[in-house]
Amino acid sequence: MTQTPAAAQARPRLDSQALTRVGKGTPMGDFMREYWIPAIMSSELQRDREPVRLLLLGEKLIAFRDSNGEAGIMDERCPHRGVSLFLGRVEEGGIRCVYHGWKFTTAGQCIDMPSVPPAQECKHLVKARAYPVRECGGVVWVYMGSRTRPPALPQIEAAVLPGEEVNVYCLQRECNYLQMAESDLDTSHFGFLHLGCLEPDDFPEDNPLRFAAENRAPEFASSEMPWGTSYGAHRAAGEQDRYWRVANFLFPFWTQTPQGDFSDHIDARAFVPMDDEHTMMFHFSWRRKSRPLVVEDKEGKPLPGLKNNNELLPNTSDWFGRWRPKANPANDWLIDREMQRNGVTFSGLDNIRTQDQAAVESMGPIVDHALEHLVPSDQMVAKTRRRMVKALQRFAQEGTVPPGVDDPQVFAAARSGFFVASAKLEWPVVYHERAGSLKHVAPDPVAIGS
Ligand code: FES
Ligand SMILES: [Fe+2]
Repeated sequence: MTQTPAAAQARPRLDSQALTRVGKGTPMGDFMREYWIPAIMSSELQRDREPVRLLLLGEKLIAFRDSNGEAGIMDERCPHRGVSLFLGRVEEGGIRCVYHGWKFTTAGQCIDMPSVPPAQECKHLVKARAYPVRECGGVVWVYMGSRTRPPALPQIEAAVLPGEEVNVYCLQRECNYLQMAESDLDTSHFGFLHLGCLEPDDFPEDNPLRFAAENRAPEFASSEMPWGTSYGAHRAAGEQDRYWRVANFLFPFWTQTPQGDFSDHIDARAFVPMDDEHTMMFHFSWRRKSRPLVVEDKEGKPLPGLKNNNELLPNTSDWFGRWRPKANPANDWLIDREMQRNGVTFSGLDNIRTQDQAAVESMGPIVDHALEHLVPSDQMVAKTRRRMVKALQRFAQEGTVPPGVDDPQVFAAARSGFFVASAKLEWPVVYHERAGSLKHVAPDPVAIGS
């Protein structure tokens, strides 16, 4: 149907710019707030200890754990006269503002108003703006949306495992969430940024990264899925078979990448916007199968540039003080030009995490999509943006519930990893064929409930 100019004006066009702005009242900001969001690791909140400053989707919040062990996340500002509750005293089932001593529960209810004579106090009328929280997989989740009864948690396998089954870590990056997530959807950088100075013979026979060093320009297939989008990068594996590497984007900011065998590789990353220009990544992985990725040569020595850890600065109480890499834009990510010149590593950067970090942060805080020249190997990036824009349009213009919010079990069918399959199987049949035979390890959605 052709829109009249007036109708087009009444319905602002949503494009890739709209995907990157997440403040309250923006289309993507409101869209994301419909989902449960990983907020902070459970281990960061100690019972009756000082609160933590937490920046989420541009909102300044505090997080704390009360003497009953309940986690709370609320507006930083005391609802009396706006003093920061970061200064507050966490004590006996709540947090007490240091200005006039008012005290609030984790749900935000004022339960003590000692600065007011008893006959005039009105604590039952005052509430701090607190958000519903839930703990799962070693993480405190928050719901910042408009519903009075939040939806169920998204059934992303790695994220809803019991805490003792999951490894989780956080990393902060100085850029928009979307360019971070897109780095995970862009497998074609792997053969250059990470493996650019390595040849297939540098790897042991049984290491599948050989294939990536052998053919640095694989074929791609991608498709829309109920949870978002999915791609398979494929290369010949002998005469009859193909080697597939499968990855997913899951609404609104999750990825799954092929870091292990498809049959039992269970992990996921959330790229949680702190604001438009800072992101906190949460990486969840299944403890029984996740191992530090150590890539060794035939003699068992680590291959240069393929360490999968990086040095962090000590956490501080600043809004941007948590989980910061030592390598950052201000020190050029500690690039070693000598190492780059001599071909020790392609990038001159020491490890996989810093290589990815430097790539996405060097694009600037929010990459300008107008400068890009997307090619067929960027099809997953392009398809994912289109899928996001469509869902965002339906949400902002027609009020359609974002994908997976009311049917969170759609996420449970998403799995990433690598496998070899008959060359006769095409995408996405090959994905469904493999996924159909999987044994899922996450708990039943009903057990987690809403
Ligand atoms: S400003 Fe917090 S109690 Fe007065
Ligand atoms: Fe990478």
